[in-house]
Amino acid sequence: MADAPVDTTVSAPVAVVGAGPAGLMLAHRLARAGVEAIVLDTRTRHEIETTHRAGILEADVARDLVETGVSDRILREGHEHEGTELRFGGRAHRIDFKALVGESVWLYPQTAVFTDLADARERDGGTVHFGIEDTEVLDIATDAPRVRYTAADGTRHEIRARYVVGADGSRSMCRDLVPEDRRVRYGKEYPFAWFGILAEAPMSAPELVYAHSEHGFALISQRTETVQRMYFQCSPDESTEAWPDDRIWETLQARVAGADGFRLKEGPVIDKTVLRFRSFVQEPMHWGSLLLAGDAAHTVPPTGARGLNLALHDVKILADVLVRALSREGVAALGDYQPQALQRVWRAQNFSWWMTRLLHTAPDASAFDLRRQLGELDNVVGTRSGRTYLAEQYTGWPVSAQD
Ligand code: PHB
Repeated sequence: MADAPVDTTVSAPVAVVGAGPAGLMLAHRLARAGVEAIVLDTRTRHEIETTHRAGILEADVARDLVETGVSDRILREGHEHEGTELRFGGRAHRIDFKALVGESVWLYPQTAVFTDLADARERDGGTVHFGIEDTEVLDIATDAPRVRYTAADGTRHEIRARYVVGADGSRSMCRDLVPEDRRVRYGKEYPFAWFGILAEAPMSAPELVYAHSEHGFALISQRTETVQRMYFQCSPDESTEAWPDDRIWETLQARVAGADGFRLKEGPVIDKTVLRFRSFVQEPMHWGSLLLAGDAAHTVPPTGARGLNLALHDVKILADVLVRALSREGVAALGDYQPQALQRVWRAQNFSWWMTRLLHTAPDASAFDLRRQLGELDNVVGTRSGRTYLAEQYTGWPVSAQD
């Protein structure tokens, strides 16, 4: 396969495997610096656009979308949230990000970020091939790596690049190219998953509600005035078939119920998915001519809303490093990527794990475990340092990640 004839051969300084937000934002940033990147994805644009994902962006990330010229749609259609609510013991407790750390976050779905980026690539004349097959990444141990693929029309192509970026998501094939004896994989599985729904209903709350209850976790998020996004903790092998609308609403209502009489506004459920999750990091993020970015290198449980933000931070650092590496500095510039990216990655790993453990009920939880969790939640909302910790972590860290 590696040397079979191909229909076309092109050269580009950078080939990017994966046209999700990380791959497209990297290509956008590189293009702004005059560096061409060819982006490939096995999924069609339609498939990516209709896969519902998380919805919270750090203020810095939202600002970057506007200031780097991707799009200013987020300013018109996104919603700035200056805080969030934790619900437990049947009561609401607001964490005021703005008052505590002077920051906010933006509710803007990942599918919208993707659409903005794909439109920007098209507008700016960037090359993105969706719906390709049989991707082969070759010669990454050399300084002349190649990527081969079959286009949607069945023709076979080769890209000769200087660097290949693996931005191919949590089931990355690129990360497997780092030899086993050169890589370390850190991971953790959780004994629960999220049941995610989209419902045609009015908003139940102006900001996100993260709810802890003895029945398990629930998250109330929003999409538009008329469509809402909600999740509840379920077993990892749960099937969506077993969940008619009334069972879903009964479960969600029970998890947010309390003495204050809070109730969700119900409506037809238009999408149901079970999201399994885990914590994962592969090191190194750079090997030979291959660099890994976003979920390909690390995944976090969705509880802290860190995943997309982390991926976009990776490519901010990576774009800068690649531009330097392709100009006078050469390959030595790449040495700056992993240390800068990993500091934030491990902070986010810790926060996502912490917030998951804080709010979910393990299947084998004892009465002590539940009571202890309420003690921890009380420490978080009931002390200024607890509230500040959550606000700081949830809104992200400054670029240097050091105060
Ligand atoms: C979402 O709106 O889909 C969402 C928000 C916050 C999270 C996870 C998902 O922590």
